[in-house]
Amino acid sequence: MYSILFAAAFTVSVAALNNGVGKLPFLGYDTWNAFACDYDADKVLAQAQAMKKHGLVDAGYKHIILDDCFTLRNRSKDGKLVEDPDKFPDGIKAFNKQLNKLGINGAAYSDAGYQTCAGYPGAYGHEAQDLATWAEWGFDYVKYDNCYIPFDNVTQQNVKGRYQRMADAIADRAAKTHSTPFWLGLCEWGWQQPWIWGKTVGQSWRINGDIKPWWDALAAIIDLTSFQYWASDFYGHNDLDMLEVGNTGQGNPIGNLTYEEAKSHFTAWALLKSPLIIGTDLTNATDQTIEILGNRDLIKINQDPHVGQSISPFRWGIGPDYVSNSTHPAQYWSGPSSYGTVFMILNTEDQPATMFFNLTESWDIRAGRVYSVYDMWSHQHTGTALRNLTLELPAHGVAALLLNDAGPETGEETEELPYCAGYWQCSYPNGTYYSN
Ligand code: GLA
Repeated sequence: MYSILFAAAFTVSVAALNNGVGKLPFLGYDTWNAFACDYDADKVLAQAQAMKKHGLVDAGYKHIILDDCFTLRNRSKDGKLVEDPDKFPDGIKAFNKQLNKLGINGAAYSDAGYQTCAGYPGAYGHEAQDLATWAEWGFDYVKYDNCYIPFDNVTQQNVKGRYQRMADAIADRAAKTHSTPFWLGLCEWGWQQPWIWGKTVGQSWRINGDIKPWWDALAAIIDLTSFQYWASDFYGHNDLDMLEVGNTGQGNPIGNLTYEEAKSHFTAWALLKSPLIIGTDLTNATDQTIEILGNRDLIKINQDPHVGQSISPFRWGIGPDYVSNSTHPAQYWSGPSSYGTVFMILNTEDQPATMFFNLTESWDIRAGRVYSVYDMWSHQHTGTALRNLTLELPAHGVAALLLNDAGPETGEETEELPYCAGYWQCSYPNGTYYSN
């Protein structure tokens, strides 16, 4: 007797959760990169006021995440989280109301394990209870970390299953209380390919360990995202981690990004459709920091209501295509948007470079057409492009361009051009190959 086993064909569903929240990347502020655990109500309210004063709330940054350390280290007798009375003397609810007056909502931080990474209570086994507490305090979002994991025989779950516990609690609470579901930001540091399943559990997922405020760290994150860009779309986003813009000479740890590097950082995070989460002390922010964080052209692409996808590389800069190079990630990127074709050209070299590309290397560009060029850093139209563009970029500098169709190629300048921008297979109607 033979028993024949038929292999069932499984399809992995990667449709986004889409419970109505988090269609577009999260825009906000988080206390961690600037202050670690060293913050209180006054310090955070000062950040909120600075956000308002500098036009960042109007630009779309409408949440402040209290990262690790906002509760006491012990729960109450009935297992409830207890707010820290030294940090929040009037209570967190009153604090969140102060934020609300400025057009900002408070957001919580917690952990899928026994404790948060800094040793405060984690939500494992307290998911529904903590969610109710956060809601009572006025939060509507939780960043969910991955420290102090219970033993396997306790969880009997892998990473996804541990995060699913909070997602289930969120769905239950929303159903029972007829309220908007909490927004869940997964923070398992890219351990277990969250770009594949994260969107079925929450609205964003960190793809990497903690960011550092220097160029090598940014380049490594951009390199990683050059392989995972496809995962971001409406209701689910790769989270490249909190921004380090503004942390030159300050922050925790102290950063050293140049102005050009900070611009490249913000450009990549915005166009790769990452959450944009400010992580610097805004009370002493320079004009350059505000200029970068408040770049409306880039925020507009990040928050495009009609096109959710990220830019993707069309050419790798150094080394062969699709080979990971954490110090020299892809340099030539493009993608669609409601406002035109987006290009990000990144000079990953330590010295200035001349960057050149043919427009039709981007799949979103039509052949035989002229394009108008808009620079999303100078906020100006800089002319038209015919077939290609050449850019001079400073070390670690960036160009962020929007190209729009400006009609067919005509006129004297095009008479000199080859019949096809792409050389191979370009043919006369009779089947004779045209050679350039
Ligand atoms: C982890 C996270 C950080 C931050 C700290 C807080 O390291 O990845 O973003 O939240 O914990 O302890």
